[in-house]
Amino acid sequence: MNATPLPAARLRRLGSALPLDDRILVVGAGEPVPLPEGSDQTYPFRAHADYFYLTGLEAPGAVMAFDPRDGAEAGWVSFVPPVTEGERVWEGRQPWPGTPKEEFARWLEARRGRGVAGLGAPVAGIEPDAATTENVRLHFKHLRRPKDAAEIALLRRGAAATAAGYARLPDLIRPGVTERALQIELEAEFFRAGGTRTGYGTIVGGGPNSAVLHFEPSARPVGAGEFVLVDAGAEIDRYVTDVTRTYVAGRPTAFQRDLYAVVLAAEEKAITRCVVGAEWTAIHLAAAAELLAGLVAMGVMRGRPEALVEQEAHTLFFPHGLGHMVGLGVRDGSGLAPGRSKDPRACLRTLRMDLPLAEGYVVTVEPGLYFIPPLLTDPVRRQRFRDAVNWPLVDQCLHLGGVRIEDNVLVTAAGPEVLTAAIPKTLAG
Ligand code: GLY
Ligand code: MN
Ligand code: MN
Repeated sequence: MNATPLPAARLRRLGSALPLDDRILVVGAGEPVPLPEGSDQTYPFRAHADYFYLTGLEAPGAVMAFDPRDGAEAGWVSFVPPVTEGERVWEGRQPWPGTPKEEFARWLEARRGRGVAGLGAPVAGIEPDAATTENVRLHFKHLRRPKDAAEIALLRRGAAATAAGYARLPDLIRPGVTERALQIELEAEFFRAGGTRTGYGTIVGGGPNSAVLHFEPSARPVGAGEFVLVDAGAEIDRYVTDVTRTYVAGRPTAFQRDLYAVVLAAEEKAITRCVVGAEWTAIHLAAAAELLAGLVAMGVMRGRPEALVEQEAHTLFFPHGLGHMVGLGVRDGSGLAPGRSKDPRACLRTLRMDLPLAEGYVVTVEPGLYFIPPLLTDPVRRQRFRDAVNWPLVDQCLHLGGVRIEDNVLVTAAGPEVLTAAIPKTLAG
């Protein structure tokens, strides 16, 4: 169970705001998934985020149900399965707090004939109404976007544990250290500092591997003067921190320093733009133009940055979006504002969300510039952008890797607050 008691206010707020009309709502936690080889083991169980948000429980097979007729707060009933003897013996599991799941059938029977919306994981025997469910899902996601005080407290603790891990790195980043060794030290410190898991698969890439966006750390030793990109974060009670720092093992070249300075300036500028009401697409496009202005100044690209972005030329070196929402999971609540459809502009193809920022949102800001061989050796792209890129210079940089810098930003009425500000941004390891 979540260590932080869930505020009843959260249930009340959702109970009064979800567009259910007279329908009931059923939210499934999900079931454990057996490993494919047919042993008696399962993948680690993670309750569906919709369910977890409402209950704070990791209870397999559980259901949270809501009837708006019974009141915005009193209408919620948390049905939990019994704990078996086997679970007590093998896992030491204690009974879940809540109403016994066997009463769920009676609860449903008393509401027979009413429409049903379904969130979370599917619940056996329930066939939710598809159109209502889609609408309720959109609103639920949107209502979850502003983080409440309990969530922000968890994110602050996660940011502190993540900072403790990153504090280990500068002393360790030397030529010869392996990506795996860095991962081990970083994650050990996350756990020592209160992390309950890592928020996602830790990324550590040295040299050319720093240009693989989600690189899994290997036994490769880092070479002298290579970039080392580390993207990792601690998770506490399901709340995730998502941070990237880039270092050089040894002495950076002038070119590496310039590339780093361009990304850092774009990141810091983008963070200042994370204010209430700001459109995420506008922040992304401004950052893309600033990154390209930097590449033009470095002699890597030619042209007017805004025009290059309109032609999607930024995706050669910055092939992902500026960031995403983060919290209950590493991609918490990203997507579109209600009523919006995907913006068809090619220059926004790589963006994960399109919404105005609001108070309480927590977003990542993570610009990057990379020399990614599969993109930069593609003949179609080379032809299309033949005049926009200094290809001979790019050819010399194909081994170089890349730079990403990522922080987590809480949008407040007083401006952006960087939750991960305690993690230094220093290039030289
Ligand atoms: N850690 C994965 C990401 O930044 O999206
Ligand atoms: Mn990341
Ligand atoms: Mn991220």
